[in-house]
Amino acid sequence: MSNLEQKAAVLYNEKKYPEALDIYLSLYQKSPKTEKYSIFCGSCFDAMGESDQAISYYKKATRLNPVSETSLIALSNIYYNKADYENAFKFAYRLLRKNPNNASALLCLGNIAYCKADYENALHYYELVYKNNNSSYIAVINMANTYYDLARYVKAVDFAKKALKIYPSSVDAYIILGNSYIELEKHEKAEKSLLRALEFRDDNPWIYNALSRLYQKTEKWESALETGWNAVICTNNTHQDQHINFGYLLYECVDEKGKELAERYAKKWLNRYPDEKIVSYMATAILDNESLKSADTDYVKQIFDAFAGDFDSTLSGLEYQVPEHIGKCVKDNYKKPFYKYIKYLDLGCGTGLCGKTVKSIIGWSHVTGVDLSEKMLLQAKRKYVYDRLVMDEIVNFLNTEDKKYHLITAGDVFTYFGDLQKVINLIAKVLTDGGQVIFTISSNYINSDDYHLTPSGRFIHNSDYVLKLLKKNGLKKNSIERKPLRNEGDRVIYGFVIVAEKFITIEK
Ligand SMILES: C[S@@+](CC[C@H](N)C(=O)[O-])C[C@H]1O[C@@H](n2cnc3c(N)ncnc32)[C@H](O)[C@@H]1O
Repeated sequence: MSNLEQKAAVLYNEKKYPEALDIYLSLYQKSPKTEKYSIFCGSCFDAMGESDQAISYYKKATRLNPVSETSLIALSNIYYNKADYENAFKFAYRLLRKNPNNASALLCLGNIAYCKADYENALHYYELVYKNNNSSYIAVINMANTYYDLARYVKAVDFAKKALKIYPSSVDAYIILGNSYIELEKHEKAEKSLLRALEFRDDNPWIYNALSRLYQKTEKWESALETGWNAVICTNNTHQDQHINFGYLLYECVDEKGKELAERYAKKWLNRYPDEKIVSYMATAILDNESLKSADTDYVKQIFDAFAGDFDSTLSGLEYQVPEHIGKCVKDNYKKPFYKYIKYLDLGCGTGLCGKTVKSIIGWSHVTGVDLSEKMLLQAKRKYVYDRLVMDEIVNFLNTEDKKYHLITAGDVFTYFGDLQKVINLIAKVLTDGGQVIFTISSNYINSDDYHLTPSGRFIHNSDYVLKLLKKNGLKKNSIERKPLRNEGDRVIYGFVIVAEKFITIEK
């Protein structure tokens, strides 16, 4: 090793990456055909967070040596961290063809499958690593975690225990153990595991979350709220997920235990985080549900961004029926004029569940979807249903839209609006004469108000109020049916599916 190389290696080990990079770049320029200099430059760029530059140098190294193990695994990992799973797979697989037992490549392939929620495949790759080396902590803990996601809780316990034998202070293993015991209804063991995890890390919100879930399940509401609160406050930079979890916990507490305890924590929450949009909306929904006329747009965006990845599977678990109801209304009501190319607008399209059902019925059409949540739109894009996807607030979008639509749907969207006057007025504006709007509302079973904000942060509506608004805005009711929309806990949530048509205006 030359003196310069030695100096660069020392700088790299001291984490002085820019200084080390200067030397490696000069060595690379003098000797561009030496594989190791490309790799060193790639490592420095990678350590400095400049992933595109790192990729370019690692690729140079693979051109010099197509089976360069270091470069292939580094490329796979960088692409994986960028969520570019196609490229991550390509490089890990190349490495695997050279060495079918390469643990880094197998783990990377397992992680890629896991991120795509392909848990069986993830397990297959982790198992291959485990079979070659049963003391690989990463393989064992990943297997425990994947078994948990597959709802194979006995196996998850088994592998979490194996992980603890290899690494006795593994907080992750204790959390998986605790969560699995909760599912297996071994509540004492669950509590013991989670309290043990706290001994190692009392600032890990996920431990408090799991404890809170345990106490909620065993109806120890005071403890559930206190541990839920700890999950929120134990990190300085509170993750939005923790706020969302806590908001839902308070709402479930109102539902199952009563308002007083939930209100006490809602006040504390609001006092501590007065500037957090999620907190002010969710806490206000619990403390004072009279003053809000619509859901806060930041709140809607953040909760749906957080749920987007699991939205379709979660809603299928809740027996979500809105897309089928809307689809049936389209079949029964929508008279497609002969040869007409339908312009269809899906408001609050989410991941595209309604759009997909409707498109399969109307056929030849141009489909526009509008939603606030970028991540929901990303899921919608993957369904290849929409010709145009717009990230915008619905009222804002309708206000500025100059196109007209033959058909508009809004499935389970108006539950984020209280006052519907503006949105219905604008829908009427963008419908063609004779065009139809099909939408759902959740029924207000609590009082006779036009709309009412529930502690869940969702609005419920009085159907007479909605029908009056439709009429006032030139929309004739075609049908209204009371239907189950989805489940919430043990309850079935009922609502109305409404079809209305724009009066044909006759020019004089
Ligand atoms: C419960 S999801 C329903 C999604 C879809 N319609 C379906 O039936 O699967 C409600 C969607 O409405 C969107 N949304 C709620 N209020 C909105 C607003 N004011 N502007 C745009 N999108 C909104 C949310 O982001 C979310 O994706």
